[in-house]
Amino acid sequence: MALSHTSARVQAAGPVTVLGLESSCDDSAAAIVRLSPDGGVEVLAERVENQNTAHAPFGGVVPEIAARSHAERMDHLAKAVLEEAGLALADMDAIAATSGPGLIGGVMAALMTAKGLALGAGKPLIAVNHLEGHALSPRLVEPLAFPWLLLLVSGGHTQLLSVDGVGQMTRIGSTIDDAAGEAFDKSAKVLGLGFPGGPQLEKLAGKANDPSRFPLPRMLARDKSCNFSFAGLKTAVKRSFDTLDAPTETDRADLAASAQAAIAAHLAERTGRAMDIFAEHNPDARVLVAAGGVAANTAVRNALEKLAEEKGFRCLFPPLKYCTDNAAMIALAGAERLRLGLTDPLDTPARARWPLDETAASADPLIGSGRKGPKA
Ligand code: KG4
Ligand code: ZN
Repeated sequence: MALSHTSARVQAAGPVTVLGLESSCDDSAAAIVRLSPDGGVEVLAERVENQNTAHAPFGGVVPEIAARSHAERMDHLAKAVLEEAGLALADMDAIAATSGPGLIGGVMAALMTAKGLALGAGKPLIAVNHLEGHALSPRLVEPLAFPWLLLLVSGGHTQLLSVDGVGQMTRIGSTIDDAAGEAFDKSAKVLGLGFPGGPQLEKLAGKANDPSRFPLPRMLARDKSCNFSFAGLKTAVKRSFDTLDAPTETDRADLAASAQAAIAAHLAERTGRAMDIFAEHNPDARVLVAAGGVAANTAVRNALEKLAEEKGFRCLFPPLKYCTDNAAMIALAGAERLRLGLTDPLDTPARARWPLDETAASADPLIGSGRKGPKA
């Protein structure tokens, strides 16, 4: 049978209801979202299952374990959210799934499940870029008008984007090596903390006596772009740790606080520069949205809030459950795309790398590779 896709037969005037699936890293998730023509969003059901215990012994996400675990959970999760919402597949206007970027084996789990459901139920498929999901996530809580400046800081990504519309994002800056979450996780590992290290490092830093005790380098000090770099930080944290003889809890806490402050300062410095660029193009739209797991960090939040106040920006943090990986943002991105008539064929491939701003990505070959796919 030739692969084809059902064209969207949705009345632009009415609400659209979309089932979204997510499996690009180490969270398996499903959600059902209803989008009204006025931009109102209702999350009718949502589930997220993380795999932290499966990956913890290895100190990081193991792609093969992640892929198998996603494949085992996806159809159960889809069924569970339909039941929770009291709806049937036939009630969906489309099935959306993350189709990249991410760990390819994982991405395939949600995408294949979505293709099967779309084909079986005769519904359109919508292939969502995971980063677009994060970019649109503030709309899960309020009908925020385009454009806004997005700082996406997670374990897989660190970038600054001007979010101008659905499918319209301009990259202003990106990491040239590690993501901010990796900087937290790697520093945490040096300090002997478990995985994921970010939240544990934050907790330890809270016990610091002198948070400025360890002088850590200012990353990309002479670079005037909005790009980020975190690879040197881990080495510096390790070097500082190695100077300690039988480190006490306070020594470790001081070093954790120093690392956290260095990461927060680097994020704020680059974001400040991006705010100036964004404001130049959009003088009336001064909104900064911070999303991704690292946006949960209080030191990072405080630094961004202070910066936003200085620059006259409103600073918005989506609720934590929508900051980290979730399927509600994928369902919403799917609903927004469906409203514009943007559906995808059933032979749409899973993509390990899929920059949101292809022009910027191909113009800058420094950026675009990484352990978890494109951090760019
Ligand atoms: O967005 P996320 O849940 O998953 C992806 O990577 O896509 O982000 C996870 C990352 C991890 O590196 C984790 O250590 C970091 O976010 N993280 C934190 C905090 N909570 C999560 N880093 C610092 N402080 C936190 N409170
Ligand atoms: Zn993510």
